[in-house]
Amino acid sequence: MVVLAIESSCDETAAAVIVGGEKALSNVVSSQTQIHRKYGGVVPELASRKHIEAVIPVIRLALRKAGISMDQVEGIAATNGPGLIGSLLVGLSVAKAIAYARNLPFVGVNHVEGHLSAIFLENPQLQFPFIGLVVSGGHTCLYRVNHLGRYEWLGGTRDDAAGEAFDKVAKLLNLGYPGGPVIDKVAMDGDPQAIPFPRAFISKDSFDFSFSGIKTSVLHYVRKHPLDRVEDIAASFQEAVVDVLVSKAVQASRVLDLPRIVLSGGVASNTRLRTRLQEIAEKEGVEVHIPSPILCTDNAAMIGVIGHYYLEQGRISPLTLNAFSNLPI
Ligand code: KG4
Ligand code: ZN
Repeated sequence: MVVLAIESSCDETAAAVIVGGEKALSNVVSSQTQIHRKYGGVVPELASRKHIEAVIPVIRLALRKAGISMDQVEGIAATNGPGLIGSLLVGLSVAKAIAYARNLPFVGVNHVEGHLSAIFLENPQLQFPFIGLVVSGGHTCLYRVNHLGRYEWLGGTRDDAAGEAFDKVAKLLNLGYPGGPVIDKVAMDGDPQAIPFPRAFISKDSFDFSFSGIKTSVLHYVRKHPLDRVEDIAASFQEAVVDVLVSKAVQASRVLDLPRIVLSGGVASNTRLRTRLQEIAEKEGVEVHIPSPILCTDNAAMIGVIGHYYLEQGRISPLTLNAFSNLPI
């Protein structure tokens, strides 16, 4: 089945054409970063307006790059939550309009499920079950993934998402927005052991996360040592976050006796996190699978993977489907 997938949950307008649920013929992402940068974060009202401008050209480009016409599309998938409601509604409404006009089956897709499915674009043979860790700007959640569409929640953040902590700390350090990629880069010249920022492990039996304490420690540190090397602060902060993420993922793998971990979401493109998880997993004899960075950050190809799965199963959404800022999987 040829699926046109649309994603607009935050500040990326994205469209992709997916064949057979695993092959992306195209994967177009139009980022609004430049627009939101001067405000230090995503401005929801501006994001919706920019999605409206971008969505049709992005879909056209996705079809052109895939080398297909709209007549060859057999199903439509779009993110309907979680995310910014005004942003979600743009992609979702366009998807429903195309489905209605073309009489095509349509399915609404959960964004977090999309992140968990991205790995199948590069590793379609990956075996279930696996431990799935989604780390993004809005989410930090750990699941046992029994199959596509079948997830067991293990734990999640009690306060900030990991990406949110990266963005807030970058702001504190005057490194700009979005914080993740810039901290990743600046940290390469810093000493990760320079400052012992606290690691919140909650308890050894819990798979929950907490990142607001690390962020507050950075704030206190910067107030006390305003002239310190920003590279060392960035590297030490990043190390603290990475330590917690890696430990919890490996702990889940051990407790559930499930030696397969899939990492995804925007923060999964972090160089240090990728390296540390691979290293520890190798030592522990655990398989680790991480999509290429471009498939970790928001994109529509991942929405197409899970959308295709549901459409093939006949799980079609009504055209009355709404968008939801909170949408558990
Ligand atoms: O998955 P995503 O693109 O959007 C959401 O679903 O939230 O994730 C965006 C988040 C942002 O917080 C961004 O700062 C973070 O991912 N991020 C990174 C890196 N690239 C993006 N965090 C750490 N290191 C990176 N290289
Ligand atoms: Zn995302």
